[in-house]
Amino acid sequence: MFVLGLEGTAHTFGAGVVDGEGKVISNVRDMYRPPSGGIHPREAANHHAAVLHTVVGESLEKAGIAARDLGLVAFSQGPGLGPCLRSTATAARALSLWLDIPLIGVNHCVAHLEIGKIVGATDPILLYASGANTQVIAKAKGRYRVFGETQDIGVGNMLDKFGRMLGMPFPAGPKIEKMALKSDEYIPLPYSVKGMDVAFSGVLTAALSKKGKVPLGSLCHSLQETVFAMLTEVTERAMAHTEKKEVLLGGGVAMNRRLQQMVRTMAEERDGDFFVPEGGLLVDNGAMIAFTGLEMYKGGITTPIKQSQVNQNYRTDDVEVKW
Ligand code: ATP
Ligand code: FE2
Repeated sequence: MFVLGLEGTAHTFGAGVVDGEGKVISNVRDMYRPPSGGIHPREAANHHAAVLHTVVGESLEKAGIAARDLGLVAFSQGPGLGPCLRSTATAARALSLWLDIPLIGVNHCVAHLEIGKIVGATDPILLYASGANTQVIAKAKGRYRVFGETQDIGVGNMLDKFGRMLGMPFPAGPKIEKMALKSDEYIPLPYSVKGMDVAFSGVLTAALSKKGKVPLGSLCHSLQETVFAMLTEVTERAMAHTEKKEVLLGGGVAMNRRLQQMVRTMAEERDGDFFVPEGGLLVDNGAMIAFTGLEMYKGGITTPIKQSQVNQNYRTDDVEVKW
């Protein structure tokens, strides 16, 4: 059996195919890049509708299969931007009806977690650090529970905002990572951890106030050191409280080598295991949706068309993990 997964919660439209064993055989994506400023939901949705056909076609072609070979179609049901979610869900429903195959609505955040199984994580603490989300999650009593999260914006959005004010194109995270390598100088910035939660607006304002007054490399380095230390601290506390021995990174910001290094060091110092999937599975992508859809399907779950409406505020702990 082959499963097609469609991802379209925000800036990226992706289509991935996994086989009946959950092995990823194709994973194609196309990212909407606004000409200037932030993402306008309607424009991102128009982008998804425009590239949908090609991205799905390419994904099937790379997998070496035809649409008729699909046995299941999974899609990102939420959380995300309403218009983007609706474009993606409409495509998934159409495929399900046309091919007469079951449909499965997948929680996007849960998919970022589940894909960690591919690299061998079995019961991890997940540090989910993406554009819109920053959460420390672990499975307890049949659900993925959020142990700590950002009180304001996601760490990726904070980096993107910082970069935008400095004239970097979206997404700014990778550019900031490169700039940060140019300096070892640490410029003190506000460190904001409250219990298990973090906040980024203070550090963003402080960093922006230093724009032009200190070398850009030092500022990028200091911003990364500060916010990644905050993330590592709450992740470590979650490991200590739950006595779990694995840590898994997820979300686009997890592409960052410095963040990987900090969390890896922390895990190793606690005799824990560190896992991070390859980059194409970290950012928003269709394969993680297909993979999770297959897991859910094997656990007896499908989504009737009537219940396939999108959920912009779909929370990680709304999902009962029955698979
Ligand atoms: P969500 O999963 O919350 O819906 P999203 O869809 O915006 O958010 P992803 O595609 O998982 O998120 O990640 C995109 C984010 O990752 C952007 O904010 C981008 O700047 C950031 N990012 C990508 N590469 C790096 C990097 N090397 N260092 C830091 N941040 C990075
Ligand atoms: Fe994401």
